[in-house]
Amino acid sequence: MGITVIGSLNYDLVTYTDRIPEAGETFKANSFETHTGGKGLNQTVAISKLKQIDAGYKIQMVGNVGKDAFGEQLLGYLKKNNVETSNVGTQSDVSTGVATILVEEKMSGQNRILITEGANGKTTYTDDELAKIFNNDDDSESNHMIVFQHEIPDPVSMMKWFNANKKNYTIVYNPSPFHPLQKEDWSLFDVLVVNEIESLQIIKNIYPQNYVDMVETSIKNGFVEAYFKICEELQKNVMNATKLAIVIITLGSQGVLFSSAENQTVQYLPAIQVEKVVDTTGAGDTFLGGVVTQLYQGKSLKQAIQFSTFASSLTIQTPGAAESIPYYPDVVSNMNSNLK
Ligand code: RIB
Ligand code: NA
Repeated sequence: MGITVIGSLNYDLVTYTDRIPEAGETFKANSFETHTGGKGLNQTVAISKLKQIDAGYKIQMVGNVGKDAFGEQLLGYLKKNNVETSNVGTQSDVSTGVATILVEEKMSGQNRILITEGANGKTTYTDDELAKIFNNDDDSESNHMIVFQHEIPDPVSMMKWFNANKKNYTIVYNPSPFHPLQKEDWSLFDVLVVNEIESLQIIKNIYPQNYVDMVETSIKNGFVEAYFKICEELQKNVMNATKLAIVIITLGSQGVLFSSAENQTVQYLPAIQVEKVVDTTGAGDTFLGGVVTQLYQGKSLKQAIQFSTFASSLTIQTPGAAESIPYYPDVVSNMNSNLK
C-alpha cells in the first residue's frame, strides 16, 4: 500500500490572543479562525504534501468523522491532498472531533489545545476489521508504514495486531496526547517520535520515583544534556527489542535528538531559526510527516530529521494546522538556500 495513518480528524477552532485569561477573567482576544486539524489528519496531510513529487506510493487515512459540515470539510481537504479516504467512516450519531485552540501571539505562537473526541472515539477496529482494511496489501513487500497517535481510544491493541499479523510493516508511534502504557508495550513500534514533555512522561510511566527525581534534577542542571540521556535510555533499554528502535525527541526551538539501533550514539541537530513565529500548531505533525516520508524514501535518519526541521520551521510561520504544512519543493528550496 504505502503509508497509512490510523488516527484523529478534528475541526480546529482557533483564537489568537495576546495572553490566556485567568480563571474567572474575561479577556478580549485578537482574532478567530477555523482550520483543518487533528493529529491523525495533520500527519497524513504532512506525509502527502512532503512526499517527493515523483514518488508513486499511496497514502491512506483511516478514521471517522461525524455526519456534519465539519466532517465534510475535513474529508474534502484529505481528498484535495490526494489521500485515500475510503476507510474514513462517516458516523451519524456523533459529531466530528473538535479542537479548541488558544494561540498566544505574544508568546512565540505557543498554543494550548483542548480536544473533544466526537467521532474519533469510534476509531476502534476488531482484528477482523483490520484484516479487511489491510487484506489487499502484498505481505511480501517490505515497504509498508503505519502511523499512530493517541487521539483515538486504543492504538495499542492495533499496534499489537500489526506486530502479530503484518511483520513487514514499520510502525510509527507519536504518543500524543500522552497515555501511560505497560512497560513492554513501549516496544510495540519501530519509530517513536516525542516532544520533551512526552519523553519525560514515558520516564515517569515506567521508572521508579528516585530515577524520575534524578532525571528532573538533571533537566534543571542542563536541559539538552539531560534529554540526551533520556533519548539514550529510551533507545537502549526501552525500545531495544524492535526492528529499528528509532527514538526522536523534539525540543522545540532547542533542536532535535535522535538515536537508533543502527547508530546508538545520540545525535543532535539544532532547530532552524525563523524571524517570526506565528502559530506553532501542526509543527510536531509536520516534523513527523517529514521523517516518515524521508525514511520511506530510503533516506538516512539524519537526512530525514534535517529535512523535517526545515519543514516544521515553515509550518510555524503560517497560521493553522494542516493548511500551514508546506509542500516538498518549498522545503527543498528553503533547505538549499539555508545550507548554502
Ligand atoms: O497537533 C496539532 C493538533 O492537535 C491540532 O490540529 C488539534 O486538532 C489537535 O489534535
Ligand atoms: Na502553524
